[in-house]
Amino acid sequence: MAPKGSIVVGEQLRTLDPTPRGVVTLDLEALSRHVAILGTTGSGKSTCAAMIARELGALGKAVVVLDRTGEYVELLRSAAPAVLTPGSDFAISPFDPRGKFDHERTDEWISLLEHYSRVSFGVGLSPLQNRVLRDALESYFHGTQRPLPVRELVRRLQEAEDELFKLRGWVESIEALVSKLWPLTHGAIGRTLDAQGGGFETTSLFGAGVKVVDLSGLPDDRAKNMLSQLLLKEVYEETRKRGRTEALRLVMVIDEAQNLAPVLKDYTSIPERCAMELRKYGFSLVVCASRPSLLSQNVIANSNTLICHMLNNETDLEAAAGFFVGSNVKDSLRRLPVGVGMLQVNHPEPKDAVRVRIGTDGQRKNVLGDLVVGAFRDQRHRAAEAFRPG
Ligand SMILES: Nc1ncnc2c1ncn2[C@@H]1O[C@H](COP(=O)(O)OP(=O)(O)OP(=O)(O)O)[C@@H](O)[C@H]1O
Ligand SMILES: [Mg+2]
Repeated sequence: MAPKGSIVVGEQLRTLDPTPRGVVTLDLEALSRHVAILGTTGSGKSTCAAMIARELGALGKAVVVLDRTGEYVELLRSAAPAVLTPGSDFAISPFDPRGKFDHERTDEWISLLEHYSRVSFGVGLSPLQNRVLRDALESYFHGTQRPLPVRELVRRLQEAEDELFKLRGWVESIEALVSKLWPLTHGAIGRTLDAQGGGFETTSLFGAGVKVVDLSGLPDDRAKNMLSQLLLKEVYEETRKRGRTEALRLVMVIDEAQNLAPVLKDYTSIPERCAMELRKYGFSLVVCASRPSLLSQNVIANSNTLICHMLNNETDLEAAAGFFVGSNVKDSLRRLPVGVGMLQVNHPEPKDAVRVRIGTDGQRKNVLGDLVVGAFRDQRHRAAEAFRPG
């Protein structure tokens, strides 16, 4: 059992002796200063994130998982999560004035599209694209408060393109914008973003327990990025609205976070803004990344709890090891078996990193199921036998 106000994440390991030294717990207070889980593919990040999500859910915390691959639906099955499936039982409009349209809304929406463009296409919006978008949005909301479907926005942009077709430069600019928005207009993502209001309420994400947003049915990374960014923006606004708190109010798990918080010059992504600006509002981020060198260093720097599984690529080792106390960390990281990580907690003050086997037997059983647990126990038993002298 973890002491009150904390969760168990696994068992501490000695360097040579495979018998564990007792459970390792994380304080909720440290968690509210964000967690980064790093490690090469297959090293155990998602399993670790799922265990943390499950424990927090069991404490009645609101946990939202942005699940790009659909694996958390399975990993968290025993926590009976609410699953939101975009396009079938879940829809949300990016352009919903909620009864009161004003210029601030236009700014927010253009900012969302700017983030989408940066993250999914590597470039921001040009001043011209900004202006065309503003005109299209403001003309639509001139007479209505109904949400604007992305399809309709694209149609209006194309109309503007036709009208301006004689003015050199404009057409290319609008065309580029249309081609970025076009992938969001059909299939599951089209159905999700064309919500006509009255459906999804952001406040529902703040209720107790685990919710998994299953993004796996969306056609591509751009669609997954857009919906993730939109949800983060909604959560950001709602969190700010609720005011400051010491308590953990909402935990957001973002796997493959390098998609949403990439390394781009002069760019602060939405997750980074959330990490930096919402820490006093009870918002906690749990990010996973298999290529730490591709994840904005700002995100790792803002994570007071760092769990690093095995890494073997020099660039990634370099990006991760710099955040650990002590020497020879790179060597230790190279040698970690699956499901074992180096844990460093920097709150309230930096402690030495410890080797942790992620999850107790019970947690493994809940998340990975009996088969995996059995195989894992046998393997551990053999390791312990081999270690025993004589
Ligand atoms: N703590 C653990 N205990 C036992 N087995 C584990 C543990 N963590 C991971 N494994 C095993 O390793 C497999 C891969 O783990 P996981 O999917 O969590 O890795 P990952 O780092 O998220 O990989 P990817 O980068 O491909 O998403 C699991 O299916 C499980 O069999
Ligand atoms: Mg994973």
